[in-house]
Amino acid sequence: MPRPYVLLSAAVSLDGCLDTPPGRPRLLLSNEEDFDRVDSVRASCDAVLLGAGTLRADDPRVRVASAARRAARVEAGLPPHPVKATVTRSGDLDPRGRFWHHGGAKVVYAVGRAARERAAAALGDLATVHQVAEEDVWPQVLGHLHGLGVRRLMVEGGGSTHTQLLRQGLADELQLVIAPVVVGRPDAPRMFGAGDYPGGPEHRLALVGTRRIGDVTLLRYATHRRPGTGARATAADAAWLGEACALAAQCPPSTTAFSVGAVVVAADGRELARGHSREGGDARVHAEQAALAKVRGNPGLAGATVYSSLEPCGARASHPHPCAELIAGAGIRRVVTAWREPDTFVPGANGTERLRARGITVVEAPEFAEAGRAPNAHLSPGK
Ligand SMILES: NC(=O)c1ccc[n+]([C@@H]2O[C@H](COP(=O)([O-])OP(=O)(O)OC[C@H]3O[C@@H](n4cnc5c(N)ncnc54)[C@H](OP(=O)(O)O)[C@@H]3O)[C@@H](O)[C@H]2O)c1
Ligand SMILES: [Zn+2]
Repeated sequence: MPRPYVLLSAAVSLDGCLDTPPGRPRLLLSNEEDFDRVDSVRASCDAVLLGAGTLRADDPRVRVASAARRAARVEAGLPPHPVKATVTRSGDLDPRGRFWHHGGAKVVYAVGRAARERAAAALGDLATVHQVAEEDVWPQVLGHLHGLGVRRLMVEGGGSTHTQLLRQGLADELQLVIAPVVVGRPDAPRMFGAGDYPGGPEHRLALVGTRRIGDVTLLRYATHRRPGTGARATAADAAWLGEACALAAQCPPSTTAFSVGAVVVAADGRELARGHSREGGDARVHAEQAALAKVRGNPGLAGATVYSSLEPCGARASHPHPCAELIAGAGIRRVVTAWREPDTFVPGANGTERLRARGITVVEAPEFAEAGRAPNAHLSPGK
């Protein structure tokens, strides 16, 4: 059954807790800058899911707070907010909760008939309540979300939900923020509870990024490889491509050129360089060019992959060598991209074909097309 790309997101204390125990004074784990990052991740997803326990404990709003991000989604033809989903077996959902009165369309996955009836009676037309069977709850939930058009799902907890998705091999990426506090209580909720997790070296998570955000650290991990290798995007690819798409937000604004992010990653998963369009204020600089310029001659380039939020250009007016040629010239054999260049500036630029003609594997990950397109929505590219 097809399912969305699943990204687990949480902030934890140094001792792995999601929160203080029930009834104890709350601790702030994250910070303002990280709340804004979470907002941008939400804006890049088609749906956000939280367990019913978190709705009861935190009464969260769950919405895209930034007006600019909502506007960018609308310009890209998306609803301003992602779909919001929850899962419950008890059906105990409070219609006064803020979750029901903010953000996008709400879907409740109720396990069993009693839960469905209770939730539907409580919520009325605040949400669509969908009944799922007792066995294999998560595959049903993810399959249904996929049927709604959800290709990228952000899961914002709590611990019970994260634990099940990781244990069942249904998570593709983890975005974990480590807060500089210790909760120190054995009864505090934890990100991952006790139980059997997929073991063995092939299930060791791949660290695909670390970033300091004020006083917290963001760790990004990719989980298992998705079935099929070769010209298919792996979970690690998805995490890096997500990073490249996020980088595009750093481009100086332009009405005459695309905003693109690119990351060069060595065969062993280490980042070699990153770049974005117009880096350093030069209006002619492309993202791939900026990144490659930082690692010229690096022996790791031969096995490296270039991740770019837009296909590398195959023709350009601003430089004698299009990025497809720069990539081939650097000895790179694999490129992963989010969307194809529309004919807005250079008709028939066709970098993908040019790369393939040089024997380079190009993996296109259409699930990132919206993320790659979003910073360029004002250029009204056709497709
Ligand atoms: N630090 C962070 O980033 C962060 C993020 C989120 C949450 N939290 C914290 O996490 C704590 C809540 O954790 P939690 O483990 O209770 O939360 P949870 O995963 O949000 O909710 C658990 C509830 O979800 C429903 N559920 C989960 N799996 C289900 C399944 N397979 N079938 C049917 N229903 C299912 C059940 O709801 P019913 O009980 O209704 O049946 C279950 O009790 C809170 O303290 C919150 O503050 C922290
Ligand atoms: Zn280029």
